[in-house]
Amino acid sequence: MMIDTRRAAELDTQARQILQDNDRGGFTVPTARLYPYQWNWDSAFAARGFGEIDKDRAWTELDTLFEAQWPDGMVPHIIFRRDDPDYFPGPRIWQSGTTPPSSGYSQPPVAATVVRDLYEAGPKETAEPRARALFPKLLAWHRWFHEQRDPDGLGVIAVAHPWESGRDNSPDWDEPMSKVDTSGVEPYERRDTVQIHAEMRPTKVDYDRYIALIQFGRDCGWDSREIARNGPFFAADPGLTFVLLRADRDLLALAGAFGEAGAKSEIEAWIARAEGGAGYLWNPQARAYCARDLRSGEQSDGVSSVSFLSLYAGLKDGDHERSNIESLERISRVCRYSVPSFDPEHPKFDSLRYWRGPTWCVVNELIGRGLAERGYSELARRVRGDTGALIENAGFFEYFCPITGRGAGGGDFTWTAATWLAWASPKHFATKD
Ligand code: GLC
Repeated sequence: MMIDTRRAAELDTQARQILQDNDRGGFTVPTARLYPYQWNWDSAFAARGFGEIDKDRAWTELDTLFEAQWPDGMVPHIIFRRDDPDYFPGPRIWQSGTTPPSSGYSQPPVAATVVRDLYEAGPKETAEPRARALFPKLLAWHRWFHEQRDPDGLGVIAVAHPWESGRDNSPDWDEPMSKVDTSGVEPYERRDTVQIHAEMRPTKVDYDRYIALIQFGRDCGWDSREIARNGPFFAADPGLTFVLLRADRDLLALAGAFGEAGAKSEIEAWIARAEGGAGYLWNPQARAYCARDLRSGEQSDGVSSVSFLSLYAGLKDGDHERSNIESLERISRVCRYSVPSFDPEHPKFDSLRYWRGPTWCVVNELIGRGLAERGYSELARRVRGDTGALIENAGFFEYFCPITGRGAGGGDFTWTAATWLAWASPKHFATKD
């Protein structure tokens, strides 16, 4: 908000340039070298960014993402169009057996929301056929989540690997991951810590467990049922639950617009189940929605930023909403740059280590949008203003220290640039909260 017009225009130009530089021909990489493939929710955010500069290119980003959809509906979290020595674990470790090769887990399904945004932005003649073509693919993907990641119909969505949550090393996963047996992990060499300082990345113990889970999935031929029933890790995630609930509402709007009556009633049932199930994630001690290990029933005890996505999900849950907002206000008083990925007053907070504290612009965008929609204008402005300030002061980094604003992880990051273009740039302030 305080950014002057000339500086804002410079940042707009830089952001466009980053999207162009990270374009590999129809799909973007999150950032050169560190993440040399197409990532799922990164592409959805990238499409939102492209929507500001080139609508056709925005749709193409989504089309290429769905090229990798599995026959069972799953849309993988990484698509390997070629083998790149800069990244581990690559296609040879996953052995997906698909074309193109991919990882065996998914990621938060932001895409339906982006498709709705792009469709409504028009123009109708070009947007409608693109959205209609994606509709059955989105429906199949959402159905996969409801069936394979909520096999008991609890109304909450589980992740079978921390990477599926998009929040790799969040303290949310410490307890369930501590039980993962790593004795059978085959020798491997990490590539991420060659490029980025180890203090900003997950630890070796984390990585051994990540690989143990991949080996389980690979050894059962990526059988979703087996993974859900007997996999070493299965934990309900407020982030995924809320992103999917929101995406279901957006898919429902599309089903209405396209006269898809059968799909409409199926989606309505998913929404009703999620609205009824979300309370299972409420932790009264933490006063937040917290992850739950579905094997042991144990719940994480700290406030992750994804708790605040309940508003974005459209949940109207009175007391919980009030407590959640009070937590956000408290956290925003402690941190200059909201919203830290984990509670800064919790002993596990780590200001630079990935999802254990740093602020991520894309999560801010979703939180900010939910706050604005529910009428929390002041908080919404705070989150958006902090996002803009981080980018202005530090650059288009992967994530940021919430205390100092220092940029961390990879630079020239696609989703940070996209979030700037689609939401944080001051040019939006006149039209949106
Ligand atoms: C990291 C993040 C994940 C993201 C990916 C590519 O693994 O945790 O959310 O999709 O990088 O940017």
